[in-house]
Amino acid sequence: MSQPRPFSRLLGSLLLAAAATLSCAVAADADDAAEPAAARAHPVRPLGQIVPAPASVLPGGPPYTLTPQTTIQVDASPGVRAVGEYLAGVLRPSTGYALPVTEARGPGGIRLRLRSAERELGDEGYRLQSSRDALTLTARGPAGLFRAVQTLRQQLPAAVEKDTRQPGPWQVAGGTITDTPRYGHRGAMLDVSRHFFTVDQVKRYVDQLALYKINKLHLHLSDDQGWRIAVDSWPRLATYGGSTQVGGGPGGYYTKAQYKEILRYAAARHMEVVPEIDMPGHTNAALASYAELNCSGVAPPLYTGTSVGFSSLCVPKAITYDFIDDVIREVAALTPGKYLHIGGDEAHSTSHEDYVAFMDRAQATVAKYGKTVIGWHQLTGATPAEGALAQYWGLDGTSPAEKAQVARAAQNGTRLILSPADRVYLDMKYTKDTPLGLAWAGYVEVQRSYDWDPAAYLPGVPASAIAGVEAPLWSETISTSDHIEYMAFPRLPGVAELGWSPASTHDWEKYKVRLAAQGPRMEALGIDYYRSPQVPWPAG
Ligand code: ACM
Repeated sequence: MSQPRPFSRLLGSLLLAAAATLSCAVAADADDAAEPAAARAHPVRPLGQIVPAPASVLPGGPPYTLTPQTTIQVDASPGVRAVGEYLAGVLRPSTGYALPVTEARGPGGIRLRLRSAERELGDEGYRLQSSRDALTLTARGPAGLFRAVQTLRQQLPAAVEKDTRQPGPWQVAGGTITDTPRYGHRGAMLDVSRHFFTVDQVKRYVDQLALYKINKLHLHLSDDQGWRIAVDSWPRLATYGGSTQVGGGPGGYYTKAQYKEILRYAAARHMEVVPEIDMPGHTNAALASYAELNCSGVAPPLYTGTSVGFSSLCVPKAITYDFIDDVIREVAALTPGKYLHIGGDEAHSTSHEDYVAFMDRAQATVAKYGKTVIGWHQLTGATPAEGALAQYWGLDGTSPAEKAQVARAAQNGTRLILSPADRVYLDMKYTKDTPLGLAWAGYVEVQRSYDWDPAAYLPGVPASAIAGVEAPLWSETISTSDHIEYMAFPRLPGVAELGWSPASTHDWEKYKVRLAAQGPRMEALGIDYYRSPQVPWPAG
């Protein structure tokens, strides 16, 4: 954390004090005779008291207990073995158990098994069965098993997340959870343009998102302040356009190899990366890199401020379309996922006529390279391509005409990702006292972020048009992992729950209790979350 805020320093010292107390407990417990005391320290977490809330929970029977002899028994499939190794990677440091991953069957193990015939589990659903004799995770494919592993983690004591040996016992309440997601798109966006984040910082966030069953990582790779992805046919985009950031720091960009490493890491967590190249506005970094992209033929200087809406690609110029063809071709070639996001927001320096013409060509280029378009909801003011998703980022105060335009598009078959700014923009301040973030969409406390229904949110939009939800984190004021975590947590788990859990489980009074139980887990993971007074965090 390169820029600790005063209160996180304070938190740090409190944690150190707590750790000092705990390390005595660990030392005492190294002797097995101390196990009963530890049992009191970790009451078994009631089945299903996790985030996101599972679709179906049937508690019952004695708990499952991990032991030094436990094995992780996987079906013979590389994808299943990889999930087994991931699970072992979470459990080994804190339990101190060997937890070998094996195809051999034996009593008392954790089983990860595929049952492709269980169609009702879908692509990401799973069943978790916990009894004294075994803990069994069942899914149709590795993605479902990966989600099941997140449930298993959360059923274990929070200390399981620590990276040093902790006292047990490690128990999972008895019973069965059967769980499938409400929406297929459960995203988080990170703006790596206003401030650049390294591969390791992105991976850290990916790990945190995975715990809450997020399945899309949207990377905002270009904006006025920085171009963050290497493009071989236009190299100055990255080397010059990526050379600064808000406030004038050195910026940075991902080489193709680094970008592929982010993709690999996300894919191993069953998370699809959605790259965004924002156009025709939000393009100063590109315009500064290549004079010929400007209608005037003159390159503007690099930009390190935080205004929006002042830049535009030159819609009438032929070279603009060579440029977008090259960029989209190279980014599409890097992208195993289905989607390519082309922005389209805040094109205030592009005439409406030019905007419509430009978005038609940009969308055709995305299709030419085999990808499906996502655009911010201004795309509905042009002609959304077949299959395109529009990402709604309006707020309560958005004009009825703009909402009606989005609703008409939805009625005509354009599906929506909901990112209402006054609910799920993670860069909005929680309160007037939040030291980071912006407030143009208002203050967004934890309850406000959670307490809305995607299916009923926009008037005139059929529930079937909602593809899912996404929580964007814009980075004008965010420059460290500590900042990311303070703004994302604890709002992100609530957005993840809106995306995953059935509407029937939606209840703030119950949610805030489940969220409170995430506090010690986030602490164990080193996440510096906002201690919202709306949430009954455990004392201590
Ligand atoms: C946006 O916040 N301009 C999508």
